[in-house]
Amino acid sequence: MRRVQTVTEVALTTFLPATSVVPVRLHQAMRYAVLDGGKRIRPLLVFAAGELFGASHAMLERAATAVEMMHAYSLVHDDMPCMDDDALRRGKPTVHVKYDEATALLVGDALQSQAFIVLSAPVDSVDPVRQMAMLRLLADGSGSSGMCGGQAIDLDSVGVQLSLEALELMHRLKTGALLRASVLLGATSGKTLSILEVQALEKYGTAIGLAFQVIDDILDATADSATLGKTAGKDAANNKPTYVSILGLVESQVLAEKLRNDAHAAVAPFGDNARRLRALADLIVQRKA
Ligand code: IPE
Ligand code: IPE
Ligand code: MG
Ligand code: MG
Ligand code: MG
Repeated sequence: MRRVQTVTEVALTTFLPATSVVPVRLHQAMRYAVLDGGKRIRPLLVFAAGELFGASHAMLERAATAVEMMHAYSLVHDDMPCMDDDALRRGKPTVHVKYDEATALLVGDALQSQAFIVLSAPVDSVDPVRQMAMLRLLADGSGSSGMCGGQAIDLDSVGVQLSLEALELMHRLKTGALLRASVLLGATSGKTLSILEVQALEKYGTAIGLAFQVIDDILDATADSATLGKTAGKDAANNKPTYVSILGLVESQVLAEKLRNDAHAAVAPFGDNARRLRALADLIVQRKA
């Protein structure tokens, strides 16, 4: 995992615009938002799924950095005063605090574009039709039927007592969709998948995607800001419906364990080759930050 994190950091450093290029301040802020921080869970998923299907390293690097740029953009906007209004992210001041709000808005916009620039560049021996499918996966994961859609529901739900079904939908979209897309992007980097393979990966991606946000809700209520690198207790302070507020801590932990088992079961047909995907499901549920 550390090897993939290092590879990802180097690739991100390369694929982000240089600070020597105008507009310098925007490029500085983009690099500030992306580099040197974060667990890089999405790149880890891309590589773990890609290695299962013999994907080329060059394509995986691009898929991993594209999805991480998309994720970083979602964090920059999520922290803005018009959304969660957070001052701390990845142990540093948020982009709108360090720079200003307009810059944070543009950093998010430009990172989204940069993700598609990185993913659409020609890669040796990769069929452009395959890359078209990958671009679509990233767009679906981040658009109004994915991350942005979930964020819209999240903002509409402040102070609302959601049903469990509505809460699950919100979490599946705002966080699950991009994690699921990471798995499918990695796998699609390799070969053309059979319907059974796609179904198995979708099941795995859906389970770990939801588990990730269940644990994020638990950590928000139980961990401290120094450990998280972001402000703890923010969900309750912002009056957000979460798994903790609706199910309680114990039931939320039980659900996360169930989702981990679902994820393991989904990739059982891949046998030992799926060990990295299994380890990532464990990490997502057992993490402390
Ligand atoms: C935080 O994501 C936001 C959610 C989608 C819950 P991560 O926990 O993956 O954040 P980083 O990338 O490690 O900072
Ligand atoms: C945000 O969920 C998910 C995103 C799309 C960024 P949260 O608002 O719970 O994420 P954190 O806790 O601020 O990282
Ligand atoms: Mg939020
Ligand atoms: Mg937030
Ligand atoms: Mg949270």
